[in-house]
Amino acid sequence: MESLGNIPEITRPVVLVGLMGAGKSTVGRRLARTLGLPFRDSDDAITEAAGCSISDIFEIYGEAIFRDLEERVMLRLLGEPVQVLATGGGSFANPRIREAVLGRAVAVWLKTDLEVLLERVSRRNTRPLLQQGDKRATLTRLMEERYPLYAEAHITVDSGAGTHADIVRSIVEALERREARHG
Ligand code: S3P
Repeated sequence: MESLGNIPEITRPVVLVGLMGAGKSTVGRRLARTLGLPFRDSDDAITEAAGCSISDIFEIYGEAIFRDLEERVMLRLLGEPVQVLATGGGSFANPRIREAVLGRAVAVWLKTDLEVLLERVSRRNTRPLLQQGDKRATLTRLMEERYPLYAEAHITVDSGAGTHADIVRSIVEALERREARHG
């Protein structure tokens, strides 16, 4: 448990958005422990629902089917009791998911620069969108397409600098400030 002062009372799901490699799952798990909330990862929920891995869904059924499944799973998860929810990088780019998250949850963008993302995604080669072509070029394109959308999140936290504990602390402080403003 992080040594934090006030832990704000969370009344809406806390949804982490951002590009692949931003640290959504790792930070999300730790944030959930700090807030005393359950943690869910939408990619894991999609894998459970489909009965196969994300790579297999892309390979066998194609990206459009994955996006459809992602939307259904995300809308279901948003209706569950309050929890911390880590999303796949493309989730918040879907306008229907984005609208639901912005209306029913608190969206937190883990903003990270390209070099940090590249370093992190190079450790695993399981992400279908990065398995072909140049990772730097793909991530640069996704940053251009998605950063304006991620910027609609209620809270933005720099997840490139500092430890996971620092990032969790920044999110909790931002949630506290939001709670103070919105009651
Ligand atoms: C994707 C990100 C992945 C996963 C899928 C597509 C994306 O999740 O949902 O491979 O479109 O950015 P992570 O962001 O957790 O890697």
